[in-house]
Amino acid sequence: MADKISDSLKAKLEKLQEKNTMAEKGGGEKRIESQHKKGKLTARERIELLLDKGTFQETGKLVTHRSHEFGLEKQKFLGDGVVTGYGRVNGRLVYLFSQDFTVFGGSLSESHAEKIVRVMDLAMKNGAPVIGLNDSGGARIQEGVVSLGGYADIFYRNTVASGLIPQISAILGPCAGGAVYSPAITDFIMMAESSSYMFVTGPNVVKTVTGEEVSFEDLGGASSHSVKSGVAHVTSANEVKLIQDLKQLLSYLPQNCDEDPPSVPYESKSEEVRPQLDGIIPESSNQPYDMKEVVEGILDEDSFFEIHKDFAENIIVGFGRLAGRSIGIIGNQPAVLAGVLDINSSKKAGRFVRFCDSFNIPMLVLVDVPGFLPGTDQEWNGIITNGAKLLYAFSEATVPRITVITRKAYGGAYDVMNSKHIGADMNFAWPSAEIAVMGAKGAAEIIFRKEISEAKDKGAMLDEKVKDYEEKFANPYRAAERGFIDEVIVPSNTRIKCIKAFDMAENKAVQHPKKKHGNIPL
Ligand code: HXC
Repeated sequence: MADKISDSLKAKLEKLQEKNTMAEKGGGEKRIESQHKKGKLTARERIELLLDKGTFQETGKLVTHRSHEFGLEKQKFLGDGVVTGYGRVNGRLVYLFSQDFTVFGGSLSESHAEKIVRVMDLAMKNGAPVIGLNDSGGARIQEGVVSLGGYADIFYRNTVASGLIPQISAILGPCAGGAVYSPAITDFIMMAESSSYMFVTGPNVVKTVTGEEVSFEDLGGASSHSVKSGVAHVTSANEVKLIQDLKQLLSYLPQNCDEDPPSVPYESKSEEVRPQLDGIIPESSNQPYDMKEVVEGILDEDSFFEIHKDFAENIIVGFGRLAGRSIGIIGNQPAVLAGVLDINSSKKAGRFVRFCDSFNIPMLVLVDVPGFLPGTDQEWNGIITNGAKLLYAFSEATVPRITVITRKAYGGAYDVMNSKHIGADMNFAWPSAEIAVMGAKGAAEIIFRKEISEAKDKGAMLDEKVKDYEEKFANPYRAAERGFIDEVIVPSNTRIKCIKAFDMAENKAVQHPKKKHGNIPL
């Protein structure tokens, strides 16, 4: 066959080959070397790690910028600083863009933006996730407002795509200025330790405006965003680990909002009873324990993938599998701040609940909560509005929702944490559950104030009243009498009870009244 190729076609094929090679070299060997020296992979190496071998189809490989300012017409790089296209992750279609820092620092030009917009449009039309591998110096400075327009085109699509297809942003280098708002609208932001940072204004501007001296890492590195701001949902030790984590995250998600999340094959085992759950709750109800032990005791082995691991640790959120089914888990964490609900934990869990509901992921809610955190700091920063986010998110969720109260469920937090009243499908409690308006001591002090103050031995009277209140209310039975709890269960049976409950609610269909959209207390 090769003999039959005409000279003219041969020349054309050579030209094509040359162009492809040029595009694949990005900003050239020297810049690639400098990228590697920083401990970073190139845009194409990242794609190779992410996608199944041989599945990448590139789009816009030969696109160039159209700028004539500042001598830019003499500096053209095929692809213009972003590699875009589609491929498969564990056999499932994804669309992606991977910014190429070796070309104008991965900065966003009009053409660069158009390439991203195109994969986003394709992803929305065809119903598959979009993954952004971000590594960019921000707006292409030479292009000015045209670049800003490009950003806005992306932000707009991020918003339209929200709740339609999963969107995941990996931050693998700089991400600064308004550029941060595309990742911020997506569902998950993942950051690599030491090599990625995000901020609205960098250390120099911070110093000029506020006088603060702060390093890039402290201002917007992975650690700051995973611990302090909560901007990052997942932090990974390096890029390679991040891409592995990204693949795992995808494995829990459906392709789009019309699909159910994928299940993995599961064979029912006789040891569904998990005796370790019987030994978790401590003797005293004020003693902490680790709710992650409960999570692991219920889920399929090694299936828990935690989100926001280091932020607002008083609540746990993440994905897991139960008898192969992908579920979202939300659990108060009594080992941190006694599992109290505060502003950050409400925001963290509220957003997670909304994600799960958007993408048909059933939710398991584990409750041990003493209430909302009191104090001026919380009140003045809006615990009312922020706590309402979680309440709203649960109330509007129509996916199957199962609750297990392991210990405390006090006050408004009882209502908020997926109570029957706001639409949960099955509510279980362990015998150690205490479902009441408040803790026994606080309650006794209020309702027996007079008797206690008049008693000779005030301490003894308080103890007696506390005991009295505990006997009456620090248990699950009052709630069970009302039907607020469907069954008080032996802890070791929790897994099997939950498997059956999710099977029962598998075809749940709830229609809220038709409206444009609700007005979540943002
Ligand atoms: C054009 C850029 C660029 C940009 C970097 N480069 N940023 N070109 N527009 N925004 C180019 C550099 O000229 C250089 O080109 C190459 O990319 C690598 O940059 P270095 O500075 O050598 O790399 P490094 O030392 O690693 O520093 C990376 C950096 C720095 C911290 C990102 O480049 C930087 O501060 N860039 C400017 C960031 C910025 O202010 N962007 C605009 C923000 S405003 P050569 O040819 O030498 O390889 C914004 C608004 C968005 O983004 C608003 C959206 C609504």
